[in-house]
Amino acid sequence: MKIELARRTKVIGTSKIEESLRILEQYPEIISLGAGEPDFPAPPNVIESTEKFLERGYTHYSPLQGRHELREELVKKLKRDNRINSRPEEIIITCGSKEAILLSILTLVNPKEQVIIPDPGYIAYRPIIEMIGGVAKSLQLKEEDDFEIHPENLQKMITKKTKLLIINSPSNPTGTVLTKKVLEEISDIAVDKNLMVLSDEAYEKLIYDDEKHVSIASLNGMEDRVVTTQTFSKTYAMCGFRVGYAVANEKVVKKMKEFKICTTLAAPTFAQLAAIEALRNSSQYVRTMVNEYDRRRKMLVKRLNEIDLNCTTPKGAFYAFPNIKKFKMSSMKFSDALLKRGRVVVIPGTEFGKYGDGHVRMSYATAYEKIEEALTRIERFVSKL
Ligand SMILES: Cc1ncc(COP(=O)(O)O)c(C=O)c1O
Repeated sequence: MKIELARRTKVIGTSKIEESLRILEQYPEIISLGAGEPDFPAPPNVIESTEKFLERGYTHYSPLQGRHELREELVKKLKRDNRINSRPEEIIITCGSKEAILLSILTLVNPKEQVIIPDPGYIAYRPIIEMIGGVAKSLQLKEEDDFEIHPENLQKMITKKTKLLIINSPSNPTGTVLTKKVLEEISDIAVDKNLMVLSDEAYEKLIYDDEKHVSIASLNGMEDRVVTTQTFSKTYAMCGFRVGYAVANEKVVKKMKEFKICTTLAAPTFAQLAAIEALRNSSQYVRTMVNEYDRRRKMLVKRLNEIDLNCTTPKGAFYAFPNIKKFKMSSMKFSDALLKRGRVVVIPGTEFGKYGDGHVRMSYATAYEKIEEALTRIERFVSKL
C-alpha cells in the first residue's frame, strides 16, 4: 500500500542529534559532546518528594493550565528572579518549555505571517513555525559580534508580515547572553513595529562570570508584548519530568490553555508537585551544578583555543561553538569525520540554521574527565587534517 503522508511532514527531518544518540548506544567507546541535557541527576529532595507524591496517588490528570499551587509559587519566583509581575492566571504549565513554545506560536502566528528567529539558534523554532504554515526568517548572528543580536540588522528585516520575534538568552547553541542594553533596543523596536516577542529562557540560571540574565518582559512597556518560556529541565536537571511554563498576558494564556486540550492536556501531576519542591529547596544543588559547568567550560574553551579551534567564550548554557572554517570542510563533514576517525560526537552547526555552518556545537554537560579525553581525541584528529 502506498501511504500518502501530509505535505507538512517535509518540514521535519531526522536530526543529527538523534542519529548520534543511536550510534552511541552501539559503540560505548565513543565520547559524546552532543548532549542537550544535564548529566546530573535531578536533585535528591525532588526525587524523594516525587516518590511520596506517587505513593499518595497523585497519578491523575491535572487542570489544563497546570496546578494552582505551582503557578502561585511561580508568581513569586518570576517576581524575585526575573522582575516579571504576574498572576497565576497569566501562567500556563506545559510539558517542557518546548510545548510552551509550540502553544505560543499556535496562539500568535497566522499562516503566511513571518517569525524572526536567531540563526544559529535552537533547532525547534523553524519546524514549529513551518508546521503551522508560518514563515521563519533567519536573523544572522555573527561570531565577530559574539553572536549577539545587532538591533539595526533586526530592524532591517521587519516587514508588514512580521508578527513575532523569537529570542533565546542564554543561547543554544552559542552560549551568548543578551545584554540589558541590547534587550532594551530590541524592546524599542518591538514597540515601534508592534511585534510580539517570544523569549525562550530555558537556560536562565546557567550563567557564568559576572553575567546577569535579564528577562525582556521585565523591561518598560513589554509585559503584554512578551511570552516568556522557562523550564525545570536545565536549571534543575529535570528534563524527564517534562515541566515547563509560559507567562504572558492572560488573553494569550487563555488561548494557549484551549489549545492544550489538543496537545497534552496537562503536564504530569506528580512532576508538577515535585517542581514546587525544586523551586523551594534546591538552590544549593543548582549552584553546585553551575560551578561544575563553569569549571568544565573554562577548561574546554582554553583547550579548544590552544588546539587552534577558535572559540568565543560562552557566557551561559552549557555549549561551546568553536569555529572549524580553517579545515575547509562543512560542519556536517567535519562532524562525520570526527565521529568516524576521532570517536567523538559533536553537533554540526548547520543543525541550528544555515549561518551555523563553519562551527560545531560541543556540550559540556558531560563529565570533566570525558571532556578532557574528547579533547585529546579531537587534537589528534585535527592534527591529521
Ligand atoms: C533553547 C531551548 N529552549 C527550549 C528547550 C526545551 O526544553 P524543555 O522542553 O525540556 O523545557 C531546549 C531544549 O534543549 C532548548 O535548548
